[in-house]
Amino acid sequence: MIPNRKGKIMMERAEELSQFWAYDLSYAQGSDMRLLDNVQFIYELSLAELELKALGADFEVTNGLREFKIKNRSKALDDKIIKQSSYFKTVGQTFTDYFQIIQKNRTRSVNQYLTHWIYPYKGKFHPQMIRALLNIIGLKADDKVFEPFSGSGTTALEAQLLGINFIGIDISPLCVMQGKVKTKAIYVIDEIIKLKNSLIAKLKPSLFNQEKDFYKTLEGVENEDVRDFYALARLLAVSDAARRGRAFEQSFIKNLHLMIDSVKDYKEIADKLELQLGNIDLKQGDSRKIDLPDNSIDGIITSPPYSIALDYVENDAHSLEDMGYRLSEIREDFVGVRGKGKERVELYNSDIKKSYCEMYRILKPDKYAVIVIGNATYQGHEVKTVELTIDYMTELGFKLEKNILKIIFGLYNVMKKENILIFKKAK
Ligand SMILES: C[S@@+](CC[C@H](N)C(=O)[O-])C[C@H]1O[C@@H](n2cnc3c(N)ncnc32)[C@H](O)[C@@H]1O
Repeated sequence: MIPNRKGKIMMERAEELSQFWAYDLSYAQGSDMRLLDNVQFIYELSLAELELKALGADFEVTNGLREFKIKNRSKALDDKIIKQSSYFKTVGQTFTDYFQIIQKNRTRSVNQYLTHWIYPYKGKFHPQMIRALLNIIGLKADDKVFEPFSGSGTTALEAQLLGINFIGIDISPLCVMQGKVKTKAIYVIDEIIKLKNSLIAKLKPSLFNQEKDFYKTLEGVENEDVRDFYALARLLAVSDAARRGRAFEQSFIKNLHLMIDSVKDYKEIADKLELQLGNIDLKQGDSRKIDLPDNSIDGIITSPPYSIALDYVENDAHSLEDMGYRLSEIREDFVGVRGKGKERVELYNSDIKKSYCEMYRILKPDKYAVIVIGNATYQGHEVKTVELTIDYMTELGFKLEKNILKIIFGLYNVMKKENILIFKKAK
């Protein structure tokens, strides 16, 4: 359809603006490297510096903190920074891989590139920060990173992009599905596209069906990753209808096409940049008893529930019910939502301690565990989750190497404070 004149002008303007805004293609003049335009907070500059150090650079920050001069520049170092770094747009006259990756974005949010946007999960990590942390704790291609509270799968996708093998669990089957679709659809995209028309025709009559014929119809699809992809497209529509009152069928079709385009984007950029993707092993599991051997993991990056303030079961209730789960049964295993009143805080404290203890057990000595966490406010009281985490992790035998205060201003300029805690397990 050709948009009318006014619509066309608006679209052209929007396109111009978005290019002008995030994807200005100029190089740093007189410096070696330039930060990406979306770097705006102090903690990001601090992570950018730690990352550069971890990649082996000796540097000086110049030009109003946005450009860097490298003192030990070499071809090998340039290549490493181009391939791995997270906060830089250019090295010399070359665009970094990350700058090229983030342009594959079907949303208006600068950090929801590739498949990150799929499903509106509350409390997503900032993916750029995760990429930086993977570098800062020295993980390399083929190492194993573990995520005990995998959530929407941010760490999974970022590890995959850097060629780092990912092992993750989450207690929520919806979270496991999100992480798998974001990282595994790339391997089955041809089949997803091939089945699209016939599957839509078969699924349409059951889109509104409460008896879950939709999932029964999907059982006919042999490949689990293809099934998950279509199931998540439905759950996106379920969530859109519940939270925003959107028309179900329209939303399903629209999201399905956007999802397919995002996976195609991912494949295209992975091929162009010749990325060696990391393996993904993501399962439903309980972080209080992790099914992994002692001293078997090269690094941990995670963000656990921040005490009892956010009810992850209630938050995704529509989708979990649509998948056939009974909320009262599954909430029994969720950290932070068990029990009532004072007992709830006590249960949180003992559950989170069990998870930290397991993290210590499975991590190799001399390796790092990063925990991103903030104090929660519950019924007007501040719950000091950050202190609890530092105290208990130290008691277990971790040493706190860095405590980076992450202060950001989110929607409506509301201030959000979190801490990035980098611990090292003793030798
Ligand atoms: C703060 S969120 C993680 C968000 C994630 N960092 C992201 O980028 O999407 C905490 C997660 O912990 C999960 N969770 C709660 N109890 C758990 C348990 N016992 N074992 C594993 N995961 C659990 C919740 O389902 C939720 O997804």
